Amino acid sequence: MKHQTVIVLDFGGQYNQLIARRVRECSVYCEVKPYTTPLSEIKAMEPIGIIFTGGPNSVYEAEAPHYDPEIFNLGIPILGICYGCQLMAHTLGGQVTAAQEDTAREYGKTMTYFHSSCKLFKDLPLEGITWMSHGDYMARVPEGFQLVAQTDMCPTAAICDESRGFYGVQFHPEVNHTENGVKMIRNFLYEVCGAAGDWTMGDYCRTAIAAIREKVGSGKVLLALSGGVDSSVAAALLAEAVGNQLTCVFVDHGLMRKNEGDEVEAAFKKWDINFVRVDAETRFLLKLAGVAEPEQKRKIIGEEFIRVFEEEGKKIGSVDYLVQGTIYPDVIESGAGDAATIKSHHNVGGLPDYVDFKEIIEPLRMLFKDEVRQLGRELGLPDYLVQRQPFPGPGLAIRIIGDITKEKADTLRDADAIFREEIAAAGWDTQISQYFAVLTNRRSVGVMGDGRTYDYTLALRGVTTSDFMTADWARIPYDLLDKISVRIVNEVKGINRIVYDITSKPPATIEWE
Ligand code: XMP
Repeated sequence: MKHQTVIVLDFGGQYNQLIARRVRECSVYCEVKPYTTPLSEIKAMEPIGIIFTGGPNSVYEAEAPHYDPEIFNLGIPILGICYGCQLMAHTLGGQVTAAQEDTAREYGKTMTYFHSSCKLFKDLPLEGITWMSHGDYMARVPEGFQLVAQTDMCPTAAICDESRGFYGVQFHPEVNHTENGVKMIRNFLYEVCGAAGDWTMGDYCRTAIAAIREKVGSGKVLLALSGGVDSSVAAALLAEAVGNQLTCVFVDHGLMRKNEGDEVEAAFKKWDINFVRVDAETRFLLKLAGVAEPEQKRKIIGEEFIRVFEEEGKKIGSVDYLVQGTIYPDVIESGAGDAATIKSHHNVGGLPDYVDFKEIIEPLRMLFKDEVRQLGRELGLPDYLVQRQPFPGPGLAIRIIGDITKEKADTLRDADAIFREEIAAAGWDTQISQYFAVLTNRRSVGVMGDGRTYDYTLALRGVTTSDFMTADWARIPYDLLDKISVRIVNEVKGINRIVYDITSKPPATIEWE
């Protein structure tokens, strides 16, 4: 079944994925396309609506991104946000200029007044806070357009030509700071574009299963299971679709968290699939022995992982399909620039073609992370797997500073488990994006009972973030930190001091290595 589609035409703004997520939250399928996408491709997708995103440029600059004006003749409703709004005004004959210092340049939360007659603001309060971030100003709106929102500084906070279905807002309805912003997007989708709300996970799940069955036929499918959310959900989907034609290879490198391997294995019991758990702890620890340099650890683990997987693949023989857990943000971001390598990420999803297979299946390719979680629930995966916080491919290896030994890994596992248990018990697990313990390589003197100790310092790390690109350290209450600290020092041998990491990212990173 083909879903109604909205296209988010990307002009390089920072909230573009968020716009797409908001549209999908409103049960409407949408895809992000770069502004370089030819009009013919847009037309072929038969969208019910198009959203122009924000962007860093000014429309009157020579090098600013533009779009084929023919898009306005397709009879498809368009919502322009910030730069997208200015582009719409500029292309259709309005005038956009740089705002003067004291006039219409606006950043941050801004009180805004709306006209209820405009469909975008239907059934919403007549005033509210919006999130503004623009240095340009629509000095003249195009013919046929009306002004439908103002701020104290700017008379053109929103414009529309309802006869043609064109709407433009200077503010960002997609960010949380804009009151009722999602409702405005919903109004655009349902009141203007005539959305039917046909994007639901149950529906997606059924469609995806049918499509996989058709594609795979009686072929053999191989999947590298890491225990992370994406590969687990991909595995569950394939298990439901093709049952024992699927082999999941779960490489346990011995650097998983406490009980993690067993939990992953248990979750897949209910399906009649071939589940191979490779206990490769000794092998990994041997390769890592004496290695303290973080990048070297990452490379060793990445390579060894491939070796193990390759060996398992050979045992199974030639397979027809290899499954990868690529998700939509990876698709949107791929090819997006050449940022400096801070850490070489090891991802089970990024396996090259060393196993003999015909084709790759990426069943989550069009889903955002929260949708992947929803799908996982739909498929009956337990909450502890579906809600799992991110866990890096190299596992505890990059949370043990300095060289790695089994004893250190066991110590860290026990301490980390207590930290996680207490955070969850206090209800903080839903408020912190990622939290874990780090075994520093630092030993210090302590006193326990009547004796001197010379043991390791454990660092606790907790961050809040929406995208993991930047993060703030989590303000865990002192009393809770105290409880955790007392428990760890008492219960875990080898640790006599606890510190809490209070650096944000940047300048630090989330992981220590
Ligand atoms: P950093 O430490 O770079 O981490 O601020 C950002 C996020 O990425 C996770 N991370 C990884 N995930 N393979 C992964 O799949 C890796 O090699 C890796 N290294 C870091 C980290 O846990 C955080 O969520």
